[in-house]
This record gives sequence, structure tokens and C-alpha cells, in this order.
Amino acid sequence: MKKFLLSLAVTALVLASFAGCTAKPKGPVKVGIAIYKFDDTFMTNYRTEMEAYLKSKETADTKYEITITDGKNDQATQSEQIDNFISQNYDVLIINLVDLTAAGAIIAKVKAAKIPTVFINRQPTTDDMKLWDKITYVGAKAEDSGTYQGEIAKDLWDAGKLDTNKDGKLQYVMLMGQAIHQDAALRTEYSIKKLTDAGIVVEKLFEERANWNRDEGQTQMASAIAQFGAKIEVVFGNNDDMALGAIQALKAANMVVPVIGVDATAPALDAIGLGDLAGTVLNDSEGQAQTSVDKALALLAGEVLVKEYWVPYVKVTPANYKDFQ
Ligand code: BGC
Ligand code: CA
Repeated sequence: MKKFLLSLAVTALVLASFAGCTAKPKGPVKVGIAIYKFDDTFMTNYRTEMEAYLKSKETADTKYEITITDGKNDQATQSEQIDNFISQNYDVLIINLVDLTAAGAIIAKVKAAKIPTVFINRQPTTDDMKLWDKITYVGAKAEDSGTYQGEIAKDLWDAGKLDTNKDGKLQYVMLMGQAIHQDAALRTEYSIKKLTDAGIVVEKLFEERANWNRDEGQTQMASAIAQFGAKIEVVFGNNDDMALGAIQALKAANMVVPVIGVDATAPALDAIGLGDLAGTVLNDSEGQAQTSVDKALALLAGEVLVKEYWVPYVKVTPANYKDFQ
């Protein structure tokens, strides 16, 4: 009898392990990626890399079915897209929110549906991030990008290249990104802070939002030129697209003024090569894309993650821009 029971147990064990190996045909892992809007240079590089990187991680057993949605800069549209991901049982989400104030409601939904989620580029509040342990944030410290912009301006100032009217003050124009984005406020603050900390007296001539957008950057810069003309000694753009828009407006007015951006997009690096852009800061879309995918897969594998991951910025000037092209 004992022997019989034993052989029965062995058979059951063998059958169970056999079932474990074969009876579970795994479909592709469904990855939903919600982007705040497709018409954004930096986020376009970012999403292209996320997709390529996920594809590069495919194996014979693991395939990724990737869906990327365009939030069209409208939170209601994006929330609907996220609802669809949830109702279609996506395995993991990566979300570039349109509006940070929507984070709490979205976290409540993914938590209820048990879908681990990585937030990117726009950081939910610390309180929102505490709402669930299967969410994390991947970004870059905007303070640093501002500080690097300030360093680039300080070097130009120290080299005697900025104080055109020789009044001992730096007259500047600031083109800001969208109000909802932490990067806009922090870059605006830290670029100037670097200068004032170094004892440089600054005078803000013009500070307006151009919402990360090249055309709006050009329009705002044209208006700054109309008001202040030759008084303008340096221009900061919270990103390269706005900086490139500013350069177009300066060219149209036959003016040459140092312009400093952030992102190090391909056209911005070209503009440094042409002598049009004084400098920028690498906002590492590739590194951030890979980190967010890695963290999404880690959450999916049940790993316990911390609440934020930071990818470093790098200062880019005419001296080193070729390294990034
Ligand atoms: C980038 C901008 C971009 C924005 C989108 C920022 O980090 O510097 O170029 O438009 O993110 O949210
Ligand atoms: Ca001056």
C-alpha cells in the first residue's frame, strides 16, 4: 500500500510538472505607452527608443505587443486611452501624463486593475507616488539642466561675450515650457540662480511661455525683439525647440545673440555646429527610454522598486557637441 501511494504521488508530481511546462502557452506581453502628445521633438525620440529597446529585448519565448497612444495634449483624451489599456488587460503601462494633477485618479485605476505602471518625464507628487507600491518614476533632475545652462552663460560672461551694453548687468530673455511641467519652473529658476550665485547681476527683460514649441518660441522671441531689440544679451529656452524658434526670430531681425537650450536634439546639435546655438544640455531621451522600459519589466517581474530613477544631464557646448551627434 505504501509503495502504491508513493508511486501515485510520483505520478502526480510528474504530471504536475509536465502541465507546468506545456499547458501554459504564453501570449505576448502587452505594453501600453501613453505619450502626452506625439508632436514633441524630445518625446518623439523618447518613444521611438522605448519601442526599439523593447523589441531588442524580445526572445523566442517573450514577445512584446506595444501600443503607443497620442494624448494630443489633452488629459481627457489620454485618460480614455489609459482606460482602454486597462479594459484590454494590458500587462504593464508607461505613462507620460498630460496633466500632473490627473496622477492620483490614474494611479487609483491602475492599482485597482493591478497593472504596474512607470511614469515618465512629468513627475507625480510624492503623495501620489505613495498610493501604490507598483508604480515608479523615471526622469532627469531638472535643477541640473538649469544649472548647466547657467554655467554655459557664466562662461560666456566671463569671456566678455555677453555684456554688450557694458552696464555690468546681464539682460536676458527666458522662454518657458508648459506651466504644468516641473522642468519649466526648475530650469527657469536654476539657470538664473547659477548666475546670481556667481555674483552676476541679471536683469530679466522678458519671460514668457512658449510651451516647448518651436513656432511659439519664434513668436515670443519676435515680441521680445520688438520690445527690447539690441538690449537683449542672452536668451534661455527651457528646451531646444523654443531655442531654435528664438534663433529664427533673431535671424529674421538680423540679430546675433547667444541662445542656450536643453535636450541636445539633432537639429540643436547641428545649430551648435553652425554657430547658431551657444550651447544646450543633453536630456538623455535614449537613457531615460531604456531605464523606463527596464523598470516596467522589473515591476512586471515582481521586483520591488524605489519611487524614482534619475538619468543624468550632460552639458553640451561647441567644445563637445560632436560627441553627441
Ligand atoms: C523636454 C522638452 C519636452 C518636454 C515634454 C522636457 O523634459 O526638455 O523638450 O517638450 O519634456 O514633456
Ligand atoms: Ca548688460
